[in-house]
Amino acid sequence: MADSQRKILVTSALPYANGSIHLGHLLEHIQTDIWTRFQRMRGHQCYSVCADDAHGTPVMLKAQELGITPEQMVEQTRKEHHQDLLDFYVEYDNYYVTHSPENRELSELIYNRLDQAGYISKRTISQLYDPQKQMFLPDRFVKGTCPSCGAEDQNGDSCDVCSATYSPTELKNPRSVVSGATPVLKDSEHYFFDLPQFEGMLREWLRSGAIQSEMANKLQEWFEDGLQQWDISRDAPYFGFEIPNAPGKFFYVWVDAPVGYMASFKHYCNEHGVDFDTFWKPDSDAELYHFIGKDITYFHCLFWPAMLEGAGFRKPTGVNVHGFVTVNGSKMSKSRGTFIKGRTYLNHLNPEYLRYYFASKLSEGVTDIDLNFEDFVSKVNSDLVGKVVNIASRCAGFITKRFDGRLAAELPEPALVAEFQQAGESIANAYEKRQYNRAIREIMALADKANQYIDAQAPWVTIKDETKQAHTQQVCSLGINLFRILMVYLKPVLPKLAEQAELFLNDQLNWAGAQTTLTDHAINPFKALMQRVDADKVTAMIDASKENLQATADKVSADSPLAKDPIGETISFEDFAKIDLRIAKIAKAEHVEGADKLLRLQLDLGGETRQVFAGIKSAYAPEDLEGKLTVMVANLAPRKMRFGLSEGMVLAAGPGGKDLWILEPHEGAQPGMKVK
Ligand code: MSP
Ligand code: ZN
Repeated sequence: MADSQRKILVTSALPYANGSIHLGHLLEHIQTDIWTRFQRMRGHQCYSVCADDAHGTPVMLKAQELGITPEQMVEQTRKEHHQDLLDFYVEYDNYYVTHSPENRELSELIYNRLDQAGYISKRTISQLYDPQKQMFLPDRFVKGTCPSCGAEDQNGDSCDVCSATYSPTELKNPRSVVSGATPVLKDSEHYFFDLPQFEGMLREWLRSGAIQSEMANKLQEWFEDGLQQWDISRDAPYFGFEIPNAPGKFFYVWVDAPVGYMASFKHYCNEHGVDFDTFWKPDSDAELYHFIGKDITYFHCLFWPAMLEGAGFRKPTGVNVHGFVTVNGSKMSKSRGTFIKGRTYLNHLNPEYLRYYFASKLSEGVTDIDLNFEDFVSKVNSDLVGKVVNIASRCAGFITKRFDGRLAAELPEPALVAEFQQAGESIANAYEKRQYNRAIREIMALADKANQYIDAQAPWVTIKDETKQAHTQQVCSLGINLFRILMVYLKPVLPKLAEQAELFLNDQLNWAGAQTTLTDHAINPFKALMQRVDADKVTAMIDASKENLQATADKVSADSPLAKDPIGETISFEDFAKIDLRIAKIAKAEHVEGADKLLRLQLDLGGETRQVFAGIKSAYAPEDLEGKLTVMVANLAPRKMRFGLSEGMVLAAGPGGKDLWILEPHEGAQPGMKVK
């Protein structure tokens, strides 16, 4: 079975803290999560960490736009990202943020070591500067006319029309995206990391099999182009860590971002008594893998190993590069509604559908992965519902109803069981090599065999024959055992389905368990384990993604309520109709002893009175409210509060404090009337 216990640390790239998790990110997180769960099932010690990438100009500007501090924005986004991932059953040991004390300390440590070893130098460079906003402009914040073809409104580094690449100083009629001002050239002293010193080491590291051969070839080209000194500093104003002994100079975000892997793990180690150095010392026998998209290979395969080497840490065992998600054959597009956020997906579809679909397409290669929705619907329905779950649902009812919920003491067809068990090593090997598509293919071939066996035995026929009862019990018991083995193999991909199967089987699923069978064993009644994908839900999700776009496209000023609190996900009319809104008369309003925010309201619904505690004391005196009409949510589940039962909710707008306004209907509305 499993070779001796390995020590493994796994990471996914750190999502930027200024946008939502989308299906592209999810490909990576799901790929990582499957691998991690697989390693743990095999009995290895496998940690996984991730974090939000907090630093840089875009984050800083976005926070300014929202009128909050970058720290606030980053923490808000981190929470949102973390929850999105958890809802896809992507579980990290720590989901941290790069703006952390551990990361500051480690980034400074690495920088200081590199500096002491002579790998840091300073040089003055000239860069475009926004004289109005008083900041240097990263390339993507300068736009202008392409120097090559004359196309207008092109980015600072490349032209979308003719694909020319150039430096932003070559743009014609350049302007700052931040303020619209015309940028000027300004000198500044920058810090550089001596990447070329590491060329020999990097070439050797790449030969060690740390990266897929297709990517290694790409890197070969980069070597041929010649490695350059890497500019690692940015001038204030910048959201990041200040460089030691360099006031006003900050680490470029890509310096401290990968260090964020270490920092997230360090935080975990400190809290859980795990030895950090075991994983990071130069001669470590632990394995370190980074899962990343192909766009950030340069950073992970050149800068990062060089920084680690130069600062006396171990290098990654492997950098696992994946391709990009396309939707229905093209790049994810906002206008087509195929730029789909994780949350929008979750509002419509079961996360395990996506985990399964991605797994069925992921290989160890870097080719792009197309999410084709027609294929998605048919694959999930035919494989998961039609094949895997079907095995259990065809057999379970008879066991429960006719055999007292007990599996037979002996199973027929030992050769079939053996075939299922022997497949385990090949499937494990596929997971290990990130050939999830192969693992899924092999599992589904077994599922077909299980179904063929049940078809041939037709327990629904033999059950009617009094003389064949024992045989029928054995056939169904075998079917359930085959289902159980398949669920072991699918557990890294489908943790939730596996959990439900465990309840049904009354058994814990682990990899070694596939080599055993369940006989003379009580199972629980079978409940539908998974619904078919409803194609309408896919359409609704795409529509909602288009509407999200509409909401953000309509220009909203930076401090408008819409900018601070964007319009939520589209809901169906049915969803809305569930909320019973009624006109209510505030019969009585009073202070609540011991509550500094609440007023107790007696609401008259024209025949029924409700007590509601409303957090509006900061804005209203009780006497201002009595006798007025308002709108209440009348069918909200009552909530027990310290001061009594609250039986509904009144509606109010505003940020809070004095700025709160409760709703009041136009004259003529009567208590009890439905608002619709
Ligand atoms: N913050 C950096 C990573 C720092 S790691 C030390 C970053 N962030 S990102 O949010 O832009 O991307 C995070 C990961 O998602 C990257 O690995 C990126 O390749 C991946 N993807 C982003 N869009 C993607 C697709 N459409 N498809 C697949 N993966 C993609 O880069
Ligand atoms: Zn051009």
